[in-house]
Amino acid sequence: MERLVINGKRKLSGEVKIHGAKNAALPILCACVLCDEKVVLHNCPKLSDIKNTIEILKYLGCEVTREEDTVEVVNKGYLKDSIPKDLMNKMRSSIIFLGPLTAKLGKANLCLPGGCELGPRPIDIHLKSFEKLNVNVVKQSGKIACSTEKIKGTSINLPFPSVGATENIMLLTALGNSKTLIHNAAREPEIIELQNFLNKCGANISGAGENCIVINGVKKLHGCTHSILPDRIEASTYMSFAAATGSTISIKNICNEHIEPVVFAFREAGCEMLFGENELKIIAPKRLNRIMHIKTLVYPGFPTDSGMPIIAMSCVAKGTTIFEETIFQNRYNATLGLNKMGANIKIYDRIAVVEGVKELYGADVEATDLRGGAALVCASLAANGITKITQLQHIDRGYENIEYNLSVLGADIKREKD
Ligand code: EPU
Repeated sequence: MERLVINGKRKLSGEVKIHGAKNAALPILCACVLCDEKVVLHNCPKLSDIKNTIEILKYLGCEVTREEDTVEVVNKGYLKDSIPKDLMNKMRSSIIFLGPLTAKLGKANLCLPGGCELGPRPIDIHLKSFEKLNVNVVKQSGKIACSTEKIKGTSINLPFPSVGATENIMLLTALGNSKTLIHNAAREPEIIELQNFLNKCGANISGAGENCIVINGVKKLHGCTHSILPDRIEASTYMSFAAATGSTISIKNICNEHIEPVVFAFREAGCEMLFGENELKIIAPKRLNRIMHIKTLVYPGFPTDSGMPIIAMSCVAKGTTIFEETIFQNRYNATLGLNKMGANIKIYDRIAVVEGVKELYGADVEATDLRGGAALVCASLAANGITKITQLQHIDRGYENIEYNLSVLGADIKREKD
């Protein structure tokens, strides 16, 4: 078993470079099955979710190589139409293979992803949209079979701007000779990134980042070289680390615009933020102020994935922060660990009331999910004494080299193995 051992209360200083965005790299890797030529992806983060997606690509028949942060994918022209359960179950985002496989092969047979640590995660919006696009969808005993003679483009109104459903529909309809409109599409930067990637490969897609995405199917997609955009959630997590420890750090390789939705929370907490070109210097006060009310929303609202680390920093703020989660049912799993460290958080369904305390104390805690794990790291950095965090597989899904980055910033952190 591995654990992070963090001796808290060290000030951080210096700079950290943000990696490529996990949630942009994942759908782009899935998109590679649509391309008939080599795809070269730079700035591809080294994370377990990316590793698992590469495993699936290899299983499907693609040749994939990685050298440092560059991943090359060659679709060799003979793809399998199914993915085994053990590969599917390693991460939920494997469902994003459904669209491109159905588009490329006319069929796909996958296992249904179950719920996850964040609560039930249905894919009804994906599947209903597929049916409208002339895909026959059969769900049986935990499996899902999609088949189609021909994708027939149409106008789709999403009941909720689901990120995954928007991606899956874009990938289903990028090929073919029909036109599809996605109304109430997700507007996250990762959707724009997917559009940019697909267009570089010869697709004809417009409107990503706005309410309506228009996809004109094309005959074929070629390859391209693409660099993955920086991870806005990793950036906001390091901002929380600086804020919780009263530190000043520079965060490099960010997209300033994508950080915008979280900036007000840090300013309200008393942090000064100086933006440069693709970088940010955050200067945190000795003790943070409480943040009046944070409500997570779809982009460009406050991102759900930034929430838990901000809750962790608010644990040591002056006063009470109210946090409202609107996207996932079980966002607050890490509260148990935070309260074990001396935090005072009360959960009322989707609302978390964080009563700031003067001190947190080191404890033995378990990461429950990716962002909750990052919240425990955040609290440990601010806490008196030693915290040991286990279940690191959650944290490793989304944060490359976290202990190395934090050590360079001056934290006392190491990874131990039994
Ligand atoms: N939903 C449905 N039906 C659907 C699809 C979604 O009810 O068919 C619900 C979900 O259950 C959830 C909400 O809608 O309550 C949001 O789901 P969405 O489809 O927008 O999210 P996702 O594609 O499953 C991606 C990210 C998440 C991020 C969310 C929201 C990836 C691989 N995952 O998930 O990232 O929180 O968008 O921005 O892109 C993470 O990185 O830690 C993470 C969870």
